[in-house]
Amino acid sequence: MRILVTGGAGFIGGHLAEQFVRDGHDVVVLDTLEPFYEVGIKERNVEIARSAASDGDGVYEFVEGSITDSDLVRELVSNTEYVYHQAAQAGVRASVENPDKTTRFNVEGTFTLLEAARESGVKRFVNASSSSVYGKPEYLPYDEEHPTRPVSPYGASKVAAEHYARVYNEVYGLPTVSLRYFTVYGPRMRPNMAFTNFVSRCLHGESPVIFGDGNQTRDFTYVDDIVDANRRLLETDAADGEVLNVGSTGRITIDRLARVIRDEIDPSIEIVYDEAREGDAEHTHSDVSKANELLGYEPSISIEDGAKRFVEWYRENEDWYDPLVRRS
Ligand SMILES: NC(=O)c1ccc[n+]([C@@H]2O[C@H](COP(=O)([O-])OP(=O)(O)OC[C@H]3O[C@@H](n4cnc5c(N)ncnc54)[C@H](O)[C@@H]3O)[C@@H](O)[C@H]2O)c1
Repeated sequence: MRILVTGGAGFIGGHLAEQFVRDGHDVVVLDTLEPFYEVGIKERNVEIARSAASDGDGVYEFVEGSITDSDLVRELVSNTEYVYHQAAQAGVRASVENPDKTTRFNVEGTFTLLEAARESGVKRFVNASSSSVYGKPEYLPYDEEHPTRPVSPYGASKVAAEHYARVYNEVYGLPTVSLRYFTVYGPRMRPNMAFTNFVSRCLHGESPVIFGDGNQTRDFTYVDDIVDANRRLLETDAADGEVLNVGSTGRITIDRLARVIRDEIDPSIEIVYDEAREGDAEHTHSDVSKANELLGYEPSISIEDGAKRFVEWYRENEDWYDPLVRRS
């Protein structure tokens, strides 16, 4: 199949592109290589997917450009069957600092893609959404009926994009689906997140720093589970016009996560606590029964196993991935 992955040089899009190529599909990636974080990591993602193509049956092409460039988007979408839309200005804090960019990329960019998809009539349009749409929990775990009251411009942009995707299904019959990812982690993830900071600091013999008391909980989802949910959408017509939570097997406190990582690397390191940061969600926890019912999605990697895998990967790739090693 012919698949366009927007944001395919990023973390999740990079894994999707690589997997689709390994599965023998023809993949085109559209990405601006935004310097939001280390561009070298994105170039690596492109290289990995490109070499997966040379190992197997799939075809890989990288196009540097923006989802807001309507001529380019129209040209690429008219040549594809599936759109996996992962490109976004990610990050809650980045959106608070620069809501203009978040809105342009996440709302206008999504709209530009949907319009092109409507014109050319793609088989499926998969929109990457986020648990940030929920905002403060009224109850947990979040099911898809939970009110969406985001607390950041990023969350608002994701709600808007979801609504556009749903309306394009209802009004124009475009087969769209939005997946609400819950904090995704794994190899090649964005650096300078709690997860990567804990690993990096412990590997350098430093204390992991927790902002707040560490009792905040997260539904960390291993990237392979996210790829699995996306892949299922190539095999079924179920879920048109729907939004689906894609989360993990359970939630974990930040304190416990720091301990799991610390114990994996060096149990003698102390954990340090600092003041809580504004804008961070207190708790996230997903109910994935809808994705299970419609797609057969079942998250398979527990946070303990995923954290171990990630530490192992990190050790092997520290020379190019770790910000402290790169700087030295
Ligand atoms: N990682 C998570 O925990 C998480 C959680 C929930 C939702 N999401 C969503 O999943 C998607 C992928 O996230 P990620 O973690 O891989 O982020 P990422 O930043 O690693 O990847 C996004 C990619 O999009 C590209 N991009 C940004 N603006 C673009 C534009 N205008 N045109 C083309 N490309 C552009 C960037 O260069 C980057 O490579 C995003 O939509 C994000 O909002 C991620």
